[in-house]
Amino acid sequence: MTRLIIVSNRTPGKAPAAGGLAVALRKTLARHDGFWLGWSGSFTEKPSAEARFETIDGLTVAQIDLTRDDHKAYYAGFSNSILWPAFHLRLDLTDIQSHWYEGYRRVNAQFADALVPHLRPDDVIWVHDYHLIPLATELRRRNVRNRIGFYLHIPFPTPDALHAIPHHEDLLQDLVAYDLVGFQAQRDVAAFNEFIAHEQMYKEAGGTPFVVELGDTVLDAFPIGSDPDAFAQLATSPNARKMYKRVARAMNGRAVILGVDRLDYSKGLPQRVGAYEKLLENNARLRRMVHMIQIAPPSRDTIKEYRVISEELDAAVGRVTGRFAEPDWLPITYVKRAYSQASLAGLYRLARVGLVTPLRDGMNLVAHEYVGSQDPEDPGVLILSRFAGAAEIFHDALLINPFDADETAEAMREALSMPLAERKARWTRLMEAAQAHNVDNWAADYLDALAGPQTSNPTAPSRLRGSMPAGSPQTPPTSTLAFWRSVFG
Ligand code: G6P
Repeated sequence: MTRLIIVSNRTPGKAPAAGGLAVALRKTLARHDGFWLGWSGSFTEKPSAEARFETIDGLTVAQIDLTRDDHKAYYAGFSNSILWPAFHLRLDLTDIQSHWYEGYRRVNAQFADALVPHLRPDDVIWVHDYHLIPLATELRRRNVRNRIGFYLHIPFPTPDALHAIPHHEDLLQDLVAYDLVGFQAQRDVAAFNEFIAHEQMYKEAGGTPFVVELGDTVLDAFPIGSDPDAFAQLATSPNARKMYKRVARAMNGRAVILGVDRLDYSKGLPQRVGAYEKLLENNARLRRMVHMIQIAPPSRDTIKEYRVISEELDAAVGRVTGRFAEPDWLPITYVKRAYSQASLAGLYRLARVGLVTPLRDGMNLVAHEYVGSQDPEDPGVLILSRFAGAAEIFHDALLINPFDADETAEAMREALSMPLAERKARWTRLMEAAQAHNVDNWAADYLDALAGPQTSNPTAPSRLRGSMPAGSPQTPPTSTLAFWRSVFG
């Protein structure tokens, strides 16, 4: 069996992971030989390409240290103050400091230097997320000929947002240095195509377009999933039951409306609290009957925009509390801390309503985990943003526009009064979708495609491939095996 080398900014840690990436990939690597390379979380005075290997939870993990300056430019700077907000269509929240690009490339080169001495000729390399877009270019420069795949866990931006990113042409060239580029959703494949079509239009209008030569690079949607069956088990484990019981006792029969998110402006948290406020405003009879719990572990708090969103959420929670609380009833509990998966599974199971309402999101694995954790005899209702990749899969959620507080409040009201038969019917279909899109199928589909055409299913619908001649407009996005599966189960 070929070895699998996973590369991402973060590696699996010992503490509970706030993000979905480490959770999803841990299982895949556990099944292959190979290792996982990433940043150690530590700083060094001088950049070093020496990776330190250790075993964490049975996985071989290789880590490198970064200098403080490089880390600032690469992580807080280019990755999270330019790429993250632009890819999430929040140009207003970008901090465009072009010089960060140098640090971003330097760190990618450092990752390549650390990787090369440990590579074998038939290793398959799988690179994850926006921090490491240039890594294939750097590896190819070092004569690495292995199959290299990239997976983008966040949405791909529209042409305007892409144009706002310094050196975006380089980044597009970097993407096509991979053998396979995987996106979360058809929406993202379409956004990539839109950029190509946009450049074509520009050419027809007499401008000089930027031509992306796809070469043999394949681009496709591979919607990531979780492990819903494992969550189903976890939700009845002793630790989950402990949390369930503890909170159920405190709730004293009130229906729980639950949100679990990294504290990030893309998650739409103040808007969500605003929608809950509308629910209480419009439905006085619900006031003592419900309780919202929002869990939001802080994230990237060296970046100003994250401190701002944290303050906005504090203010929104304070406003709703001040407006509706009574001496013996609080409308909302807001917890700024990460919990173990077992505790979350217990909370998911207890919650009558799972609120997953990001303004824009690659996939959102909380939606999958919430579905997996439900009691089949008394399942809760998933309220899901149309702008999460998960909306392409979970047609039986109550889909809402997270910018529309009235619509979201109405969905909460509907979810709270939904009859058991409808809850069960919706949940059964949601669970089927979560199982069809579980993390094992995701990794298998992706790795099968990365292995190359010789092992891919010849009857699968064609994937977007080939070069983009300057004169021919890009055809609309092709349908893919993963997409058809999501439609037909
Ligand atoms: C998102 C990104 C991941 C990232 C995670 C946590 O899910 O797609 O790449 O690891 O957020 O963010 P952090 O900046 O703390 O790694």
